[in-house]
Amino acid sequence: MADYKRYTVTAALPYTNGPVHIGQLAGAYLPADIYARYLRLRYGKENVVFVCGSDEHGVPITLKARKEGISPQQLVDKYHQIIKQSFEDFGIDFDIYHRTSAPLHHETAAHFFKVMYDNNIFELQESEQYFDEVEQQFLADRYIVGTCPHCHNENAYGDQCEKCGTSLSPFDLINPRSAISGNTPVLKKTKHWYIPLDKMQKEWINDWILDGKGRAETWKNHVMGQCKSWLEQGLQPRAVTRDLSWGVNLPIPHTEGKVLYVWFDAPIGYISATKAWAEENNKDWRPFWQSNDTKLVHFIGKDNIVFHCIIFPAMLKAMANLGEPYILPTNIPANQFMNMEGQKMSTSRNWTVWLNEYLVDFPQQQDSLRYALLMNMPENKDSDFSWRDFQFKNDSELVANLGNFVNRVMVLQHKYFEGILQDVPYTEEQLQLLENVKETYWRLAENYENYNFKLAMQEVMAVSSWGNKFLADNEPWKTIKTNPQATAAVLNTALQIVAHLAIMLKPLLPQTATKMAAQIHLPEKYTPHFQANESIILKAHHSIGEAVLLFQKIDEKEIERQLEKLEKSKQTNAPISALAAAKPEVDYDTFAKIDMRVGTIVAAEKVAKADKLLKLSIDVGFEKRTIVSGIAQHFSPEELLNKQVVVLVNLAPRKLRGIVSEGMLLTAENPDGSLQLIAPPQLAENGATIA
Ligand code: 2FM
Ligand code: ZN
Repeated sequence: MADYKRYTVTAALPYTNGPVHIGQLAGAYLPADIYARYLRLRYGKENVVFVCGSDEHGVPITLKARKEGISPQQLVDKYHQIIKQSFEDFGIDFDIYHRTSAPLHHETAAHFFKVMYDNNIFELQESEQYFDEVEQQFLADRYIVGTCPHCHNENAYGDQCEKCGTSLSPFDLINPRSAISGNTPVLKKTKHWYIPLDKMQKEWINDWILDGKGRAETWKNHVMGQCKSWLEQGLQPRAVTRDLSWGVNLPIPHTEGKVLYVWFDAPIGYISATKAWAEENNKDWRPFWQSNDTKLVHFIGKDNIVFHCIIFPAMLKAMANLGEPYILPTNIPANQFMNMEGQKMSTSRNWTVWLNEYLVDFPQQQDSLRYALLMNMPENKDSDFSWRDFQFKNDSELVANLGNFVNRVMVLQHKYFEGILQDVPYTEEQLQLLENVKETYWRLAENYENYNFKLAMQEVMAVSSWGNKFLADNEPWKTIKTNPQATAAVLNTALQIVAHLAIMLKPLLPQTATKMAAQIHLPEKYTPHFQANESIILKAHHSIGEAVLLFQKIDEKEIERQLEKLEKSKQTNAPISALAAAKPEVDYDTFAKIDMRVGTIVAAEKVAKADKLLKLSIDVGFEKRTIVSGIAQHFSPEELLNKQVVVLVNLAPRKLRGIVSEGMLLTAENPDGSLQLIAPPQLAENGATIA
């Protein structure tokens, strides 16, 4: 392990167009917070900076502001406050939570651009881009929507299809339209500056990422996997400017109407946040970014990998080559995604838990959520959050294991010995148990150093289980009558375990650790450390404080309320943006050409080797039609049998997997992707026309 003098820990700057949700917590903020807390305890608070802030530029913000009828600044002001407050209330302990609309950030980002521009790093390219003539605006990124060429989602964005996850360019979209007006855009010439990632790939990025040259740590498999796939495709020059009015202005003349691309300015936000923190604390920011003995670690979700593993390092390296010696990240331990109740989390469908709402519904239970997210952390693969599991983890693990152990020990000590540790010898076995507990610190440290936070939590819970087993095996409530001295030694041992747990839990469940330390009157000297060097922490005659319950069971009614809330959002909360956009107008004659009929499904079977397709035989009155339909993931063949449906009968036949499909089954697709059959409300005659 390389020796570092200092640590710069960053957590992805959240977009400021809504509150943060538990998927983001599990993905980036919680692991980053645990890591930063551990580093501070192990290497000294003054050697660690943990930065974050609001990412306030970018198209989604301007679109949302437009929708709410306010200015982008008003929008980010509103959400910046909400996000900042909820992080604070939840206990994410940033050294600073900054924002990219701050002048210091604009200066810092503009400086990066200027240095690279002045040194001819960028390539200037003229190209045609979509332009909305009515709004007189170029349609960058999410300002343009259209049909995804891969999955036919009609609401794919100009940079990505959210349904199938493919990265897109505006020119990949079928039937592109303006997200502002719905108009069909025209092409217009514009100039932009490009960072030549293609050249940089050959010069050093391949060596650094693929061969690990100059990298002190290996990266997670899935992070490397994404990087490799980008590198294998060959990096392309990437535009770092946009034709927009909201963002960081370009620091060069005659570029009105152009700003930095949000992904150029956002990661520089980590640096401007560090500068702001240094200013406030009378420190120097430079060593935290420009010294080789600093370890830089970015915590992000997997959707941000390319920006943090390739593009931002490319910018940092370019600056370093130009005399500002920025370091590259040592690691980018990105997490995968957390699903919600078995479905993909979705902010537009409200299919998530918003942190600010959680804190209102469970005001004292920060650590219950921390624990549930931690034990489900998508460290290497996608995971799932469910309210029932949250309840189970709280009630059966926190309450029944940890909370119960601590409380039993505290209560018994008060009952039998007035809360005072007795001066009695420990047995060999007891000393051995405490030695084992003490060894846990080093396993914890190793887990933190390797970004295995869930394993760390499991280690601590194992210590609590040892404590419970120790009590159950020794039954102090029975021995007190016959052998008070042995009972005192058992409780002393158990109290040492409680004290160790109070220290071990500091990075993981800080609220609980604080409560425990206060209850047992943990000596002050342990406060700044992640471990205890001795196995006996509380000496004879030490007096413990009052026993207070650490955790409460989750109210069943509250879980039901949360589940109902979700169910409602499923039914009613499909926002307009999630619905397919209206198609352009057609005249009656065009419509009249379409022949739709009622039919009955008389046979249905799966199509071999095609998991989406079903082969249906449908009686449409005047004949039976064979129709191949992509609904196999929504309906089983059995449930379709004898169902009445609506069929488009004059669609040109098409061969699918060798079967000629003679028409199309009509379905209604909900914004969440679920399908319903379209059928007449009462039985109709097969072949009945629809108009
Ligand atoms: O995905 C996001 O929410 C981005 N706003 C993350 C930016 S991370 C950093 F580069 F600022
Ligand atoms: Zn798609």
